Amino acid sequence: MSDIYSDTETHLESGSTLVGAHGRALREVSAEQQTVEQTLVDNVVMSFVSCEDPRLRELMVSLVEHLHSFIRETRLTEGEWATAIDFLTRAGHITDDVRQEFILLSDTLGASMQTINVNNQAYADATEATVFGPFFVEDAPGIELGGDMSFGAPGEPCWVEGTVRDTDGKPLGGARIEVWEADDDGLYDVQYDAGKRAARAHMFTERDGSYRFWGLTPTPYPIPDDGPVGQMLAAVGRSPLRAAHLHFMVSHRSARTLVTHIFPEGDPVGWKDSVFGVKKSLIKKFDRQRVGTPTPDGRAIDGTWSRVRFDIVLVPSDG
Ligand code: BEZ
Ligand code: FE
Repeated sequence: MSDIYSDTETHLESGSTLVGAHGRALREVSAEQQTVEQTLVDNVVMSFVSCEDPRLRELMVSLVEHLHSFIRETRLTEGEWATAIDFLTRAGHITDDVRQEFILLSDTLGASMQTINVNNQAYADATEATVFGPFFVEDAPGIELGGDMSFGAPGEPCWVEGTVRDTDGKPLGGARIEVWEADDDGLYDVQYDAGKRAARAHMFTERDGSYRFWGLTPTPYPIPDDGPVGQMLAAVGRSPLRAAHLHFMVSHRSARTLVTHIFPEGDPVGWKDSVFGVKKSLIKKFDRQRVGTPTPDGRAIDGTWSRVRFDIVLVPSDG
């Protein structure tokens, strides 16, 4: 059991009136002061009483309750709140069509992954989802099955193959597969130039659900860390590195769209992924092939290459 949970138990056992798991400081606050603070929470909560959308009301009330608990339990100083406002302002200023600092913030705080967990509970043997990230683009080029999605991006060639099926094992022909990844220098095409397209493509599965393509063996890379999120990571002693991965988005008319990645087994970053995206079921063996090993499609390759199999199972749309 972690310290946080044992701490909560201690508070509960001693009959404390503390709010939440981290209310050490609130214990020191006088009863009168607690009444002042709680009255404000109650007033703000009541201000949503005439909101006609019940879901919006539920979200706003819960947000206010949690936000006030955070302020009260940490005894947040005015200077700290001003720093937080400044942080969000700078996140807004650095955000544009290509750079999305708020997604980075959500990702590095685990909020993206927790939202995915809540919305993608295990369903039969369906493939697990993970973070979308900020580097997907709508207009990735189409390739034939067996084609090369790297479009000249630097990196070790990797043969990727597998099938797309539903949870009953039925092959899903005509499923659209979008793939995208960083190159060997740790950069996505759009980080060089918003209009550049490389190391990304889409393709469609065959009638038997199979797919195959050439990509790049994934390598770890840092998330963009030259903005406020990077400063936050540095301040708390965390690395910006993402575990090496290859992104997939798979859609089919009869299935729920899946957003996921595969991660090479043995990656040194692995579970220390800066956005908490790694799941055991998504770690795959990328088999490195020696120089001169014949390729599946007869392509001539000078150096080493790798190969991986990723069989994808989609949840039915009504599942
Ligand atoms: C990515 O995998 O592309 C990514 C995910 C979260 C934050 C930054 C990048
Ligand atoms: Fe990525």
